[in-house]
Amino acid sequence: MAGDDIIAAFDAAAESYDAWTQVQSEVARALVARADGAPAKILDIGAGTGHVTGFAHGKWPDAQVCALDAAPNMLARLKAKFPSVETIRADAAFFSTAARYDLILSSMALHWLNDPNQVLQSWRGLLAPGGALHVATPVEGSLHEWREFLRASGLQDSLWPFPPQDFGGDCEIVDFPARFDSARAFAKSLKKSGAHRAAPGSRPLPAHALRKALGRPGPFTATFRVAFLRLDFIP
Ligand SMILES: C[S@@+](CC[C@H](N)C(=O)[O-])C[C@H]1O[C@@H](n2cnc3c(N)ncnc32)[C@H](O)[C@@H]1O
Repeated sequence: MAGDDIIAAFDAAAESYDAWTQVQSEVARALVARADGAPAKILDIGAGTGHVTGFAHGKWPDAQVCALDAAPNMLARLKAKFPSVETIRADAAFFSTAARYDLILSSMALHWLNDPNQVLQSWRGLLAPGGALHVATPVEGSLHEWREFLRASGLQDSLWPFPPQDFGGDCEIVDFPARFDSARAFAKSLKKSGAHRAAPGSRPLPAHALRKALGRPGPFTATFRVAFLRLDFIP
């Protein structure tokens, strides 16, 4: 599967994910709030432990909700919280099915996939007539404080690259600041949420220099710049 190491990192973090993803939960809530109508069949792509699934389930209790992810431990946590949800273990970039969905949701997952624009079009193809695809994804500019921190510490900027903001169409950009007691706590949150996979081609950060930089006291804010996209069914 493409991105095996990405999936492995999320799988290993399944147990700690919920406790370290306050911002991801806020983004999921905002994403579900943007969706309207009365969908009968909903698909949550890159569902993780179910932040989006949970809000969707609460908003449309009679809908059939399916949750797709490639990480089995993430899906197991989701299933334990929402037993009635059908889980699908699959690669989100290549998922195909004869099923069609009235509403497709995806939060904080698209940026882990190659060629986000192509993936969006393939997800759009899974919509039922009249259906809508709502996606939240971090974009360029996200976590700029961490990039600046690494540079100021003389360390390589190894943060995962975020897609550009120019998705076109129905797209709104919103900043979600996440506040931590220290830079070390932020770095820990990346690990505990499984989002610590370094940018392709980057070298591991030298442990001694990183430890020294993270020893700096004081609060640390890291801002997720999130694009909310909407794509409608096209016949
Ligand atoms: C940051 S988490 C977001 C989870 C959830 N949507 C949320 O908002 O909390 C990203 C999720 O995408 C999943 N993921 C990453 N690449 C994937 C792929 N190629 N196929 C399916 N799932 C993938 C990971 O396993 C992880 O659960």
